[in-house]
Amino acid sequence: MRIAIIGCGSMGLRHSVALAELRKRGLTDFELVAVCDIDESRASELAFHSEKIGHQSVAAQSSYERILDDHSIDAVSVVLPTWLHHIVGCEALLAGKHTIIEKPLAISPAASSMLRKAAERSNRVLAVAENYRRIPSNRAFRSLVGQRKCGTPLSMFVQRVASPDESYKVGDRIVKGASWYREPAKAGSYHVFELGAHEIDLQQFWFGPIVSVTGTERTIDGVHNRTLIQMQFASGMLSQVAFVDSTTKVEFTRRRFTGTQGMAFSRCWHAWQDGELFVDGVTTPLEEMTESYLRSAIAENEARFLPDGSFEPVPFSDPTNPLTYGVGAAYADFAAAIQRPRNPEIGIDEGSDVVAVGDAILTSIAEQRTVSIDRNARDTRDGKVGR
Ligand SMILES: NC(=O)c1ccc[n+]([C@@H]2O[C@H](COP(=O)([O-])OP(=O)(O)OC[C@H]3O[C@@H](n4cnc5c(N)ncnc54)[C@H](O)[C@@H]3O)[C@@H](O)[C@H]2O)c1
Repeated sequence: MRIAIIGCGSMGLRHSVALAELRKRGLTDFELVAVCDIDESRASELAFHSEKIGHQSVAAQSSYERILDDHSIDAVSVVLPTWLHHIVGCEALLAGKHTIIEKPLAISPAASSMLRKAAERSNRVLAVAENYRRIPSNRAFRSLVGQRKCGTPLSMFVQRVASPDESYKVGDRIVKGASWYREPAKAGSYHVFELGAHEIDLQQFWFGPIVSVTGTERTIDGVHNRTLIQMQFASGMLSQVAFVDSTTKVEFTRRRFTGTQGMAFSRCWHAWQDGELFVDGVTTPLEEMTESYLRSAIAENEARFLPDGSFEPVPFSDPTNPLTYGVGAAYADFAAAIQRPRNPEIGIDEGSDVVAVGDAILTSIAEQRTVSIDRNARDTRDGKVGR
């Protein structure tokens, strides 16, 4: 299938690298034929780099409409600022393209609903490229929770301190967090949508549906932003997440889970690593949990979502490598959803659900009250999922 990437920023680069790595490993479902950015120099640079890392012939485009008009292109990847996801995503679906959209699916429940209608009308696959849950240690943790290895889940505490302006590596290149992340009109909210979308998806993946949320946000002189989020789950599990902007290039994470018979502790945000698991009085490194998962569970159900070659079968997840960071597995799942056909692991329902929970957190922050998530409503406003 011929695919184009729309949006050549930090994440567009990761998508191109992931697709190149998949090809090197014999997963040739997608051929990257074009990249597009409104900034021509970004498009040309990514096209050039993409060919350097193994893609055959990649055209640079500055108009996404031209990509959508090209009948030889089967699928597109929307890697644009969040406020554009539903606009370009709907046009892509209605132009007949299978469409994978970066997280969060959309900037609001109303925008998710537009994507749902476009996907239904077009009969094309709509997938979300959310990558964190595809990282093996996050799947290993879900399996551990499902098997009640730590007993009944009770609580989770997450503290994430990071600079929104941080630079990071993708392959051998240095990229920087985008300035629009801090603009609510473009990002929804840096903490609740840009970062929070990962957290909401992960925690629902591990613990099931969130039923209500409470959020508090504080700034000092408009900066030094902090957001405290409490999430209540249908199971009775409680979770508290603190996102804190650092201005000193300090990055710091503590994640702690407690169950009735054990607990887990991680110093890494996006994956369960650099920490320990305590079960029945025995302490083991988290890496052992992931290694044992990789030895057993992958062969069965999980192979559906983690085809061989679409991820690195190692416990350590390195964000500079899109395969260990889960992006390759997102593409393998997207390809399988188109070819089999079947639903993608993270499609319109899962993507809309994350947006609805994020929107409920924003409502809670604005109105200083706890907000319930209503999953039965067709309406898409104020915390309602819109099925
Ligand atoms: N999964 C992750 O770990 C992760 C990490 C970072 C960002 N993201 C997500 O990826 C998406 C993109 O983020 P980013 O960091 O790459 O942003 P970015 O700003 O680096 O890149 C976005 C690109 O889109 C281009 N663009 C804007 N309007 C356009 C238009 N109309 N047509 C064509 N191109 C246009 C911009 O010029 C820019 O190059 C966001 O949804 C973000 O939430 C995900």
